Amino acid sequence: MVAHWDQKGVIQKVKEDYQPKEDVLQASYDRLLTVIKEKIAEIQRQGPKFIPECDFTDVEANNGQVPEEVLQRVKDTGCLIIHNVIPDEEVLQRKKEIEDYWYGNQERLGVKARGVMNALGLFKLREHPNLVKCIVAANSLWHDPSGDVEWCPTKPMVYLDGCRIRNPGEEGGMLAHVDSGGIERWWHDEYKQCYKAVWEGKWEELDSYDVSYRTTSPLPTNKFFRAFQGWIAMSEAGQDKGTIRLCPMLKEQTAYYLLKQLLDKELKHWPTVHSMSLRNELFPLINDALVTIPDVQPGDYVLWHCDLGHSVEYTHNGEKDSSVAYIGASPMCPMNAEYLVRQHETFLKGGKGPDFVDRDGDGGPEADFTESRPAIDDLSDIGKKMMGFLPYEVNEDDDEKTREVTLKCNKILGF
Ligand SMILES: [Fe+2]
Repeated sequence: MVAHWDQKGVIQKVKEDYQPKEDVLQASYDRLLTVIKEKIAEIQRQGPKFIPECDFTDVEANNGQVPEEVLQRVKDTGCLIIHNVIPDEEVLQRKKEIEDYWYGNQERLGVKARGVMNALGLFKLREHPNLVKCIVAANSLWHDPSGDVEWCPTKPMVYLDGCRIRNPGEEGGMLAHVDSGGIERWWHDEYKQCYKAVWEGKWEELDSYDVSYRTTSPLPTNKFFRAFQGWIAMSEAGQDKGTIRLCPMLKEQTAYYLLKQLLDKELKHWPTVHSMSLRNELFPLINDALVTIPDVQPGDYVLWHCDLGHSVEYTHNGEKDSSVAYIGASPMCPMNAEYLVRQHETFLKGGKGPDFVDRDGDGGPEADFTESRPAIDDLSDIGKKMMGFLPYEVNEDDDEKTREVTLKCNKILGF
């Protein structure tokens, strides 16, 4: 879906809704630039080490939560690498299954691995018990200050996405961008309230982990709340090996790309609604802050907040493939349950997920795959629950709201 928007009108409406005084906004932006420039100097000094890391055993030892030693850094940067989540031999086996599925069907279709979403090997990674624990830990970084949001971070739901299997020397890469919407951050009545502090000239008060409005904002091609984007490494990866770069200053970079548009006298065009370009000519400071992740091995999990800018290196000078399976972290909420109802249909057809269908206008090539298409019974119990094929139980220790949300979501899913 390519949409053209009245960008100036959208910006004007934000100003009318929140009535920020121009000088207050400008002063806020000036303060922001000072902080960002200091952060960039520090990020460039530290390089990949700036990205927080921990081991899966640290998460387990902390009762399934992000370890205290890195917690504040994770919140500030908006990203985390958890090492050794899935044993590497198991991940390599899953990658082989994905490749067999892909190559086994490729002959007729010539499809790229990126669009392959239904390989059984992918589902086996998505439902791996260790990964599920990490997803819950990531979801639990979010909170609900109002107490009114219908969500449950400990009962994850899964958004089907593809994978990347990239051989050495292969061209590829992506310019800086942010997913989970583009112009909707200014335009969508619910969604733009996530950024109220920024619109009011108080970016320092922006709480990027407040779940309010996130679970009630279905966007044109982002109808599923992904608290964190993420991938499981299916190969080693690191600097110059065709991997991801992150902009590890969550609040500041979010305020920067939001405010710059409000203050820019010569607005440039945003081309899409499903993700937003953060390319250098529009947002140079985002690009100055991008840093490649530290080295990872098969089975490591890389997470980044849904508002965080990122890019993928264009060069891949490693000696082996650079491969990942995209698996984000998402909580149970009614909006996600609604999406699962539609995803159920696309899964049965073997096609891409609903957001991708809405964006691209077709279900992709997998509907015509004949070999090794998984069925619902191939999934584990937790895999079925994350896909909405089985209901989550109401647990004894669930509070009243969690009980209500669980029952409401189960009802949406037909249970
Ligand atoms: Fe992305």
